[in-house]
Amino acid sequence: MSTHADPLAAMAAALTPSTAALRAMSESFRDEIARGLAGSGGSLKMLPTFVRQPRGDERGQVMFLDWGGTYGRAGIAVLSGDGRVEVEREEVFEFSDEDKMAPPEHVFDTIAAAVARVAGRDRVTRRPLGFAYSFPARLERIDRAIALSLTKGWRLQALEGRDVVELLADALARRGVRNVAVSAVANDTVAALALLTYRDRFAPPADIGLIVGTGTNQAADLGALGIRNLESGNFAAVTALQAPCDAALDREVGEPPPGVQRFEKMVAGHYLGEIVRRLANDLASRSTLFRSWPAGALRSPFGFDTANLSRIEADGSPDLSDTERFLRGMGVESSQEDREALRTLARLVVTRSARLVAAALLGTLSHMDPRLESPHLVAVDGSLYGGYPGYDRLVRRGLEELVGPERADRIRLEFVKESTALGAAVIAAVAGRSGAP
Ligand code: BGC
Repeated sequence: MSTHADPLAAMAAALTPSTAALRAMSESFRDEIARGLAGSGGSLKMLPTFVRQPRGDERGQVMFLDWGGTYGRAGIAVLSGDGRVEVEREEVFEFSDEDKMAPPEHVFDTIAAAVARVAGRDRVTRRPLGFAYSFPARLERIDRAIALSLTKGWRLQALEGRDVVELLADALARRGVRNVAVSAVANDTVAALALLTYRDRFAPPADIGLIVGTGTNQAADLGALGIRNLESGNFAAVTALQAPCDAALDREVGEPPPGVQRFEKMVAGHYLGEIVRRLANDLASRSTLFRSWPAGALRSPFGFDTANLSRIEADGSPDLSDTERFLRGMGVESSQEDREALRTLARLVVTRSARLVAAALLGTLSHMDPRLESPHLVAVDGSLYGGYPGYDRLVRRGLEELVGPERADRIRLEFVKESTALGAAVIAAVAGRSGAP
């Protein structure tokens, strides 16, 4: 039974794990890394990537393809060999909710059509293409990635077990595209890491690639073990940190199934709006707040987008008038008290996300450097990290809370914009480099 008479205060308590609980999570994260590497189970897959760190002098024109959610991008990038990599031309494509449950061939036909338009017909020799596939996959080579189950609300029919590079190559062949060679495939976390390393050839390479967007994940350069894709969204030792709403969401969301992607379900953009929507509905039933909330778009699951949380945070007006407007647009009339409560919920959920991200990051860093004695460079990208005002500061605060300011200072997080597409291009260029190092 809750000790709080005020339901909002009870939610605040449930959404604010103690420092001790976060530290314990960080330690189990580190332990799960060791288990994953030893092949003795656990929730972190520690997948090999076959990607080498860039040297920084790679140059040339390469194609990229970025697919890991509702929007995808295909394009051509030019690497100058001095840290610069720029998009020469590109095309964005979009998937509908139906596409997310279609046979894989349907999705790959859409992707191949975009690649074909970008590749054009003016060239007969094959251009290398780096494919950023931002879902779990078990790589067997740099250009062979066997799909594991999808995340972020996707469930293509019978995709699991199939090589996504082959699916793409087949779709390109069906369209008669002969001037593109899919030469590398990598996760978006690996792309972020590689891009940051490429950008500054004189600095030490990036240690970690971190994405906090629709989904969340980390990749880490583990030296002799190579760069590994942790698939950290699946980290499961979060029970002690879960609020009642998390357990309910995990059970009810359907895709991914209960117990899968548990960390991601508390942290990433695909879910945070939904958590806030559920909490607000709950408050509506237990207090005088949000009287008209259950009407409008907010009745249905996933009816409240995570981007709204950023809008609320960015709303500097004293009476939250921008928030009032967009809620009205969703069919919800709100009082100032409602809007303030909504902002409180949004801040609680986002702050918790950032603290969990900090704890997971420290789990990886403590595997690499148990006493955090050396400087570390983390490449970060993702719509939540880049789009929610002050998210970076919340993560930094989380790091300081957990290891103190001095050690937290050795960790540099660098935001790398558009890292998935550009990083995929860099990875294709590295793969095309002949011979080792
Ligand atoms: C996927 C990861 C990806 C992350 C960020 C997760 O849902 O499983 O492969 O790196 O989202 O896009």
